[in-house]
Amino acid sequence: MTLLKIAQVGTPVLRTVAEPVSPEALASADIQRFIDDLIETMHDARGAGLAATQVYRPIRICAIEVNDNPRYPYKPNIPLTVLVNPVLTPIGDETFENYEGCLSVPDMRGVVSRHARLRVQALDRDGNTIDQEVAGITAGTFAHEVDHLDGKLFLDRVSDTRTLCTWKAFAMHHEDQFRRTVESVVARYGS
Ligand code: NI
Repeated sequence: MTLLKIAQVGTPVLRTVAEPVSPEALASADIQRFIDDLIETMHDARGAGLAATQVYRPIRICAIEVNDNPRYPYKPNIPLTVLVNPVLTPIGDETFENYEGCLSVPDMRGVVSRHARLRVQALDRDGNTIDQEVAGITAGTFAHEVDHLDGKLFLDRVSDTRTLCTWKAFAMHHEDQFRRTVESVVARYGS
């Protein structure tokens, strides 16, 4: 496996709308190897997710996993999930305020409003249909990754730029309050 280079904000590929992946391409050794590398790179960088656009390959694939992540210690765990050609549809109109960061946006976090419940339709890496609901903090993570496939960064969704902060400033000034937000979201939505 190969660790892939992660594009940083300002790199044009991050603003690319990624191309759908055909079932034939998905089954190819090339794409299967790429998915292994995407997962390996996500683990190495301790991301909660990583989208193909972030590693200079604008195709509609992203990986998500939270397993006691030290970068986001308050995030509920998410089993390893690979989404191919994902479509997210909000369920209801409830939202919550999510303090997000991104491997493509070094040392910056900000508050983004996310839908609290989403229907996720996609293929898994074997071409099987995924049709599930996600909620709460987990829904925020899914929405963040799928945004990447549409050329969007969390920065685009930060409506109050006064929430922007470095990771150090987050830890010093915002983490305690955000942990309480996470606790209330998890209590309400179960994830
Ligand atoms: Ni990101």
